[in-house]
Amino acid sequence: MDQQLQIELLEELRGLGAEGDFFIGDAVHRSPIERYTSETRFQAEMDHVFRALPMVAAHASELAEPGSYLTVRLAGLPVLLTRDKSGQANAFLNVCRHRGARLVGDGQGCKKVFSCPYHGWTWDAAGQLRGVPHEKEGFPELDRSQYGLRRLPMAERLGMIWVVPDPDAQFDFDAFLSPLQQDFDWLGMAGMVVAESEDAEYEANWKLLAEGGIEAYHFRITHRDTIGPHFMDNLSSYQMLGAHMRSILPRTSIEELEQLPRENWSIRDHANVLYTLMPSDQFLLMQDHVAWIHAEPLSAGRTALRIATLVPKEDFTPDRAGHWKRNHAITKMTLAEDFDVNEAVQSGLASGANSELNFGRFESALHKFNSDIEARLPG
Ligand code: FES
Ligand SMILES: [Fe+2]
Repeated sequence: MDQQLQIELLEELRGLGAEGDFFIGDAVHRSPIERYTSETRFQAEMDHVFRALPMVAAHASELAEPGSYLTVRLAGLPVLLTRDKSGQANAFLNVCRHRGARLVGDGQGCKKVFSCPYHGWTWDAAGQLRGVPHEKEGFPELDRSQYGLRRLPMAERLGMIWVVPDPDAQFDFDAFLSPLQQDFDWLGMAGMVVAESEDAEYEANWKLLAEGGIEAYHFRITHRDTIGPHFMDNLSSYQMLGAHMRSILPRTSIEELEQLPRENWSIRDHANVLYTLMPSDQFLLMQDHVAWIHAEPLSAGRTALRIATLVPKEDFTPDRAGHWKRNHAITKMTLAEDFDVNEAVQSGLASGANSELNFGRFESALHKFNSDIEARLPG
C-alpha cells in the first residue's frame, strides 16, 4: 500500500473519529436467518461459491521443496498438494483412480511416489501413474496416461497456493487475484512462513465467523477486557479490492497522529487491516505479523477453522519462537471472544426469536459481504 493511500485511509477515519461520526452505508439492512440455518442454502453456497472459487489451500512455504506434499480438505473434498521434481506445485483430488481409496492420509511430508494403501497403485508427484501390481495379468490393456491423478485448477500466486475444488472448473486466477497484488506485495506475503497453526471446529455458520471481523461495533463491548480499549469505538471503513474486502479498524492512537509528519504515518502502527477474501480466507495484519483464518464450512451450523500465524521468514528464528507463540495465543484468545458470541448467535437463530438479523448503517460491510455471496447463487 503506497504512503499516499495509507495517509488517505487514516485521514478519513481520523476525520470521522474527531466528529464522533461513522463510516456508514445507505440504509439499515435485514439478513434473513435462513442464510445461516438452512442446509439447502448451505449446499447452494458449497456448489456455487466454495467449489467455484479459489481458496488458499496452503502458504507456499508449506510446500517449499521439490518432493514435499500436504493434504487438506477444501469444500468437503480431499485434496493432495505436491511439489514435483521440476518445482511445479500441483493440486489433485486425493483419491485413488483404481477403486477410489484415499490415496494419502492426513498430514504432510516428503515423498517421491504415493502408493495407495488398498492395492498399491502408485503415482509420482506430477500425478502420473507409475505402478500397478500384477498389471499384465489384471489390466492387460491399461493405458496409464488415462489414469493420472485428477487435477484441480490451481495457481501459485502472492506467496500462496490457490485451489478451485472442482476438477471440471476453468478459472481466471489473474483476474480474481490481481486486485490483491499491490497490498500482498506490500505486506511481504511471499516472504512469510507459518510460525504457528491449529485447527478447531465451531458450532456456527461460516458467515457469522467472518462477519465478526468486518465491523467494529462490537469492539468496546465484546472485547472490553482485552483489545477493546485500544480501538476507536465503532469506527472502521472498508474498500473492495475486486471480489475481496479490505477493512481498516483504527486504534485510539490515530488521535495522536497530528504530532507525526504525514510521511511517517504507517497504517499498520495505527490500525488493524483485515483482508476478507471471497469466500473463505481472512488475513489480519498486525504490527509485525499476520493472522490467517481459513474457513472450511462443514454444515449450515458448523465450521472448521484453521488459525495460523504468518511471520517474516527472516524473523522466524529460535530466539523469536516465544514471541510468536505468545502472539498466536493472543490472537486465539481474542478470536475466542468472537467465536463464543458467534456460537451463541447460532443457537439463538434456532430459537425462533428472530426471523432476520439487523445490520445498522455502520455495519454496512456485513450487507456488502452477504449480498456479494448472494449474487453468486442461482435465482
Ligand atoms: S483402491 Fe487404490 S489401489 Fe485399489
Ligand atoms: Fe471481534
